[in-house]
Parts: sequence; structure tokens; C-alpha cells
Amino acid sequence: MIEVSGLTKLYGPRAAISNLNFTVNAGEIVGFLGPNGAGKSTTMKILTGFMPASFGSAKINGFDVFENPIDVKRNVGYLPENPPVYLEMVVEDYLDYAAKLHEVPKSKLKASVDSSIERTGLAHVRRRIIGNLSKGYRQRVGLAQALVHDPKVLILDEPTVGLDPVQIIEIRELIKGLAGQHTVILSSHILPEVTATCQRIIVINKGQIVAQDSIERLTNRMRQGLLYHLNVKSPTASGIQALKSVSGVKDVTLEGSKILVEVLPDQAELRDRIVEIAVTEKMGVLEFAAEKLSLEEVFLQLTTQEKTV
Ligand SMILES: Nc1ncnc2c1ncn2[C@@H]1O[C@H](COP(=O)(O)OP(=O)(O)O)[C@@H](O)[C@H]1O
Ligand SMILES: [Mg+2]
Repeated sequence: MIEVSGLTKLYGPRAAISNLNFTVNAGEIVGFLGPNGAGKSTTMKILTGFMPASFGSAKINGFDVFENPIDVKRNVGYLPENPPVYLEMVVEDYLDYAAKLHEVPKSKLKASVDSSIERTGLAHVRRRIIGNLSKGYRQRVGLAQALVHDPKVLILDEPTVGLDPVQIIEIRELIKGLAGQHTVILSSHILPEVTATCQRIIVINKGQIVAQDSIERLTNRMRQGLLYHLNVKSPTASGIQALKSVSGVKDVTLEGSKILVEVLPDQAELRDRIVEIAVTEKMGVLEFAAEKLSLEEVFLQLTTQEKTV
């Protein structure tokens, strides 16, 4: 449904994104995850035909965003970082206007507006002025304008940013409800945001894709295994050497009297072996504990890596 290949955008000599390659299948809900400045908005602006790329290509539903911008706009609903809502307008009038902009035929205007209002839970505020609504409701109006022409693809740039926790949950639920009927790509710089809503994540950092996979597989793949904290009375060089030589042990470092033993994923059973070595080497075990590397820490590691995986 979305095919991106070699996509690059230069701002002057600097590349905001460079050589992005990814695809999103029909009906998928994909998270575009990366810290601020990673290039998320730039990519989305290109995908929606809002801005041209410097190199590479992007296709939506088979239409090239540069060669067939009109077909692309028909197939895409876009919620930009700063939603284009007119604060002085009444909700339903604004959506009627958005529908006309999207060239919804006159005969279908009312049905389209009603449907977008219903799907975003705006029925009770449809006659209200947008500027008088809460931020969460304004964001719903932003979503409603993105889907008023019933596009196949929805591109949502940080849809929950700036909302309070209750509003965040409501918007997440709304977006989840849209999946299936639409292909959705949403960006966020917050990991729990994408894990809550998306089936798959594309991680971008400094304009490059550093990982893309299902959340489950990414967690497994990125998990650096386990980190064991082995606190001993007297660490010995031969003991550390012995730990290092155990197959399945990735790294051993000494921090004061604490030995940090990093093991590969699925090597938890090495516990016994590690303690056994400490005992054999007479290092005097004081404490032994496992520290799981959390997804958040993994993400931090992920986005500090330079190379594409
Ligand atoms: N109009 C612009 N002119 C120059 N640099 C820009 C412009 N827009 C964005 N950038 C730069 O491009 C990079 C990516 O920005 P952006 O796509 O907005 O990232 P994100 O949405 O992930 O926070 C950043 O380094 C940003 O400073
Ligand atoms: Mg952005």
C-alpha cells in the first residue's frame, strides 16, 4: 500500500532523511518511531505530497507521490503536526469545507461529513466552534478532516502529542478502531505510544531507519539478553577470564567489586555456571541479581546506534 524506496530529503547540504526504504501493507497500522529531529515529519510531508523529496520514490496505492499527486491526495488522509483546523469555524462546517477540498462529490458531502463525525465521536459537539473545544476534541476534528473523504491510507503525525492522559487513551482507541478499514502510519517520539497502538514499528534516527519489525520480534531481537550483577568480595582476573570464556556470555565488565555479566538472549540458564565460576574462583559471592534490559532502554540503545540493521 505504501512503498518507499531510496527516499532522501536535503535541506541545503544537510540530509533530513537519507535513503529510507520501507513498505506498509494494506490494513497494517505501523508506528514511525524516532526522537525529535529524526525525520518523521519530513517523511510524512513527502508521503502526502506536501513537499517533494530530493531523491528516491514513494508510492501510495500504486501512485507515485510526485507523478500522480492528485490520485495520491484522494487516497491519503493526513493529520499534520499542527492540524489545519480553523478555530473560528463550527465543527461540521469545517468538515464540510475539508470534504470539498478533498473533492468529495456533492451528492456524498453530507454522508461523508456525518460519517467522519460519527467515527471520531464528535456528534455532540458538531455545532460547536472549534476554538471552544478542548485540545483532545480539536485533535478529533483533525482526525475527522483526515478521514472525511474515506481515504485508504491515513498518515498521522504525532497524533497524541500535547494531550492529557485521558485524551491520549481516547485518541489511541479511536486510531485502533480505524485500523482494518484503513492503512495507518503514525509517528511518535514516545515508545509506549507506538507499542499501544501499532502492530509494527519502523525506528528512525538521524534520518536513517535503524530497525523495522513487529514489536514482539523487535523486542526480542533488540534485547541485549540479560545483564547479571555479580557482587563479590574479591574479583580475580582469572575469574573474569573464566566468565568471559563461557559460551553464551557476551561481555564481562568490572565496576568496583561488581562484575557485570551480559549474556545473549535465551541464555538465562547460564546463571548456575556464572555463580559456579565465582565460587570455584573463590571470589566470595555477596549478591547475584538479574537486570532485564527494558524496551525503553533498548530503544535508547537503538537510537544511539549509527548503522542500519
Ligand atoms: N524547513 C526546514 N529547513 C531546514 N531544516 C529542516 C526543515 N524542516 C526540518 N528540518 C530539519 O530536518 C530534520 C528532521 O526534522 P523533522 O522531519 O521535523 O523531524 P521529526 O519530525 O522526526 O522531529 C531536523 O534536523 C530538522 O531540524
Ligand atoms: Mg515531527
